[in-house]
Amino acid sequence: MDVAKKFSLILFGATGDLAHRKLFPSLFRLWSSGHIGDFMLLATGRSQPDREAFVRYLRENVDEASTQPGRWAEFEAFIEYFRLDAKNEQSFHEMSEALKGHERSRQLSGNRMFYLSVSPNLFGTITENLAASGMLERQNAERQAWSRLVVEKPFGHDLASARDLDKHLSQFVDEEQVYRIDHYLGKETVQNLTAFRFANGMIEPLWNSHHIASVQITVSETLGVGERADYYDSAGALRDMMQNHMMQLLALTAMEPPLSLAPNDIRNEKVRVIRSIRIPRTPEEVAECTVVGQYGAGEIAGKPVVGYRDEDGVDPNSITPTYIGTRLHLDTWRWTGVPFYLRHGKRLPARMSEIMVRFRTPPMHLFHASNCDPSYPNVLRIRIQPDEGIRLSVGAKRPGPGVNIEGVDLEFTYAEAFGTSLPEAYERLLLDALKGDPTLFIRQDEVEASWVWADAVLNGLAALPKPSFPNYAAGSNGPSDAGRIFLPLSSPRASEPRDTWGSFVGHGRRVHEADSH
Ligand code: BG6
Repeated sequence: MDVAKKFSLILFGATGDLAHRKLFPSLFRLWSSGHIGDFMLLATGRSQPDREAFVRYLRENVDEASTQPGRWAEFEAFIEYFRLDAKNEQSFHEMSEALKGHERSRQLSGNRMFYLSVSPNLFGTITENLAASGMLERQNAERQAWSRLVVEKPFGHDLASARDLDKHLSQFVDEEQVYRIDHYLGKETVQNLTAFRFANGMIEPLWNSHHIASVQITVSETLGVGERADYYDSAGALRDMMQNHMMQLLALTAMEPPLSLAPNDIRNEKVRVIRSIRIPRTPEEVAECTVVGQYGAGEIAGKPVVGYRDEDGVDPNSITPTYIGTRLHLDTWRWTGVPFYLRHGKRLPARMSEIMVRFRTPPMHLFHASNCDPSYPNVLRIRIQPDEGIRLSVGAKRPGPGVNIEGVDLEFTYAEAFGTSLPEAYERLLLDALKGDPTLFIRQDEVEASWVWADAVLNGLAALPKPSFPNYAAGSNGPSDAGRIFLPLSSPRASEPRDTWGSFVGHGRRVHEADSH
């Protein structure tokens, strides 16, 4: 069993949404399953006055505290709390004394993981104060214990700010000490992309422009902006999901075989993919391959929901996109000529993330005379969530007279194959960071490469006429303009009624999308 050795986890933003929804439950499960044992969790925050109040707050807000009260009570013994004013250096000096005191009394060895789950505008101040108070140190030969810094996304707002942030951090720590989180990499189904591609002899020979016609990556959410309007309204769909999570999905789908599974061998290949994205040069080029949208009022699962502009904390005239769809090209030997469609939106009809790979049709339509649709492609769907699994649609002869070919599915689901529920992404990421394995964390050059592309798209969009938002109802399939990219009029099936999301949501339905190159 993987066990992380003695450590202190110092959590900034301990009363935030991520902490009670993901971080505390994940740590609790890591502890329950024996992956961590000898540790202290020093929570910091301002809103709770002391440890007692903080522990009470956790009991009220973390699900596991009410579903497993006995175990949770034992887990509480590992928790300490420090009321911190993150902008005040003196407060950090006091915290440093408290930290040392706890480490002494708990006989911990000084291994420290600082987790920044706070608003990005505090990253700089916190690291500076951590270093000034001596809590966070560069790794050196004299210091036996390790110090690591885990940074939540977003890492920068654009290329310039991502570089500034990195420069700032590098004054206090080395790149090897920085763990930039992208929680999609902690998902089992995302890690399986590499296994699926490189552990199976039959996949890789087909994984190129000779055999693949298009790749479509979708992250569709039913959720709205929730309580995060403050952050989201200045970020929008591209910065929130596409520059990071979806870039990682793209990189893992398209990368060359790595030399080994060593962290830098994988990250070297991922960054090459991101660097190979063709950068749109003019606003017109951006407009040609990008569709943005913002949800208006509508219904999700039969319940009315407000439009984005009426969400708490959102500017009533906001032009922040909650939907983005884009077509991009990778200028590499393997992928030239294959369009990659990426799309993401909030308040869409289904929660569904998947990578859909559409293969080329056979060179000759042997079954032309039958009822078979000669344009019917083999389609591979790698379902990231929910209903995690992989499905390959193939043509099969319908039993009976004549030769009628129909689409059928070959399918694997995690539920059937492994019979266990999948671990929360943060469990894996926390454990890896504690063990010092950076494979599933983003390197700075990956961050910068994806900002180069994202900045070009954002600048292009900013130079175009102001969009007329809202342009899709909550619960609908997104802006109708998306059909311009995802369903070209040249499609042989364009006359059929269909939508841009429904065509690939749902079991065993045929894929109508056509390529546009
Ligand atoms: C976060 C985004 O990084 O990922 C959210 O900030 C989004 O806006 C979330 O809802 C999606 O994560 P998941 O794991 O639910 O797909």
